[in-house]
Amino acid sequence: MQEKDNTRRKVLIGLTSAVGLSGIPFAATPFIAAWNPSAKAKAAGASVKLDVSKMQYGQQIQVAWRKQPVFIIRHTKESLQSLELTLPKLADPDSNQIDEPYKGINPTRSKSAEYTVIAGVCTHLGCSPKYHPEVEPKPWDASWAGGFFCPCHGSMFDMVGRVYKGVPAPTNLPVPPHFFKGSILTIGEDGGMT
Ligand code: FES
Repeated sequence: MQEKDNTRRKVLIGLTSAVGLSGIPFAATPFIAAWNPSAKAKAAGASVKLDVSKMQYGQQIQVAWRKQPVFIIRHTKESLQSLELTLPKLADPDSNQIDEPYKGINPTRSKSAEYTVIAGVCTHLGCSPKYHPEVEPKPWDASWAGGFFCPCHGSMFDMVGRVYKGVPAPTNLPVPPHFFKGSILTIGEDGGMT
């Protein structure tokens, strides 16, 4: 029990540091659970497992995988429907310019029709884009339909991490290998194509 507590403490410390590096407050990641790889597996870049069933609709959380933030978003039906609104503004809506692992499976860009799993690192110079799901005028876009805004140099991404035209970021946010087994999401392994 003592050993388990120690492991958990180490994991939490590791997560806190990773989140601190990315510039997003730890409070933005309330539902990180079940990530408990061995120290050896962690050093090798182990996969991350978490139960996403407790995420609320519209919520975004962040986990660390290979010391990098990964964003997970649970979409509302409305936000998936509104993806069409941003299409004309996108530089690469079909992810033709990057290696997109689950291309064409779901509008979410993931293996799930409800969750998006994307790297939380701006493809310009590596800042962490901020989640702004509200559909309302923003200082950076008067017809903002929800998505991610990078405060460093103003890059914009839609709700599934696709980059806008005319911003510094050159490509969409990459999708890491992942799979779902029920409500358990594994990041870092493909689990075979489904
Ligand atoms: S690092 Fe994101 S816009 Fe430059």
